[in-house]
Amino acid sequence: MKAVMHDRYGPPEVLRLENVERPVPKDDEVLVKIYATTVNRSDCGLRSAKPFISRLIHPFFGIGGVLRPTRHILGGELAGEVEGVGAAVTEFAAGDEVFGINVGIYGAHAEFVCMRERAPLARKPAGVSFEEAAAVCDGASLALMCLRLGDLRKGKSVLIYGASGSIGTGAVQLARHFETEVTAVCNTKSLELVRSLGAHRVIDYTKEDFTKNGETYDVILDAVGKHSFRRCRASLKRGGIYIPTDGLYNLFWALWTSRIGDKRVRVPIPPRYTKKDILFLKELIEAGEYRAVVDRCYPLEDVVEATRYVETGQKTGNVVLTVNAGRAR
Ligand SMILES: NC(=O)c1ccc[n+]([C@@H]2O[C@H](COP(=O)([O-])OP(=O)(O)OC[C@H]3O[C@@H](n4cnc5c(N)ncnc54)[C@H](OP(=O)(O)O)[C@@H]3O)[C@@H](O)[C@H]2O)c1
Repeated sequence: MKAVMHDRYGPPEVLRLENVERPVPKDDEVLVKIYATTVNRSDCGLRSAKPFISRLIHPFFGIGGVLRPTRHILGGELAGEVEGVGAAVTEFAAGDEVFGINVGIYGAHAEFVCMRERAPLARKPAGVSFEEAAAVCDGASLALMCLRLGDLRKGKSVLIYGASGSIGTGAVQLARHFETEVTAVCNTKSLELVRSLGAHRVIDYTKEDFTKNGETYDVILDAVGKHSFRRCRASLKRGGIYIPTDGLYNLFWALWTSRIGDKRVRVPIPPRYTKKDILFLKELIEAGEYRAVVDRCYPLEDVVEATRYVETGQKTGNVVLTVNAGRAR
């Protein structure tokens, strides 16, 4: 089968398309023929091993070595069709259309991948394309985790900074679903999109600094890792919670604020992806309450170009790779 391989850390150019052996499912695994996958920030972080300290952290999660990668095929998110199942699999059968995320294993930048039956994998939501389905799991799962850390409930207020990214577009829709008051911050070009996702108020960060308008929120989620607790602190209500999605130094702030002051920092580490959440997202999609935002689609062969684009930090929502010539629905 065709797969995108890399055997050293480095720029997008370390990725190359190769012919490798098709994986064989173990007893508790399903073999998925992939029609769409994504290039996301985790793929980029794992391939570049930047910042350098991540090389020391990857081995603890079993996703990379200090000197060399150990996951040679990237790609966590996927949508496709079950090609075969192991002897002990009961939930899926050949021909099922599925979507999910191969947490910690990766391998989806390829024509086929094996996933455990109990992994975050479910039947593809009815009525959405493989491209859309592939782009659901990562951003939305992380957004769900962040909103839970913020203990967001009906009537509370949340500001989502970086609302046009993968986590941001997920967080806006999920916060709206949880009946919170949603303020979203993004660039001029994304205002309409973010409003259409359900934000009650949208702030253009090129024209207004939300930390200076006197408004306060129960939760501030920095969905793009470009803000800081220090700068946001005055925009939090008493008892308010700041949730960053980047910056290891925030672990210090989480510890500090757990003992001092009336505002907290909570860090979504380690990230959690569960089958239960994937099934919840499928329900929301089928009820018309959630959609993955897809910015660009590239064929698998153009993975280097797709990766370069993701690393501009300016994608809107998600970037998809089509595999096996894709499939409409
Ligand atoms: N290192 C890893 O392994 C890893 C893995 C997953 C997630 N993360 C972290 O998770 C966070 C979100 O990831 P993601 O994939 O959701 O992000 P993303 O999709 O790459 O975010 C890009 C979006 O952020 C917007 N943006 C860029 N600069 C901004 C700024 N200064 N203020 C507000 N918006 C800005 C961009 O639009 P405009 O440029 O038009 O504003 C774009 O729509 C990041 O902090 C990322 O580092 C890291």
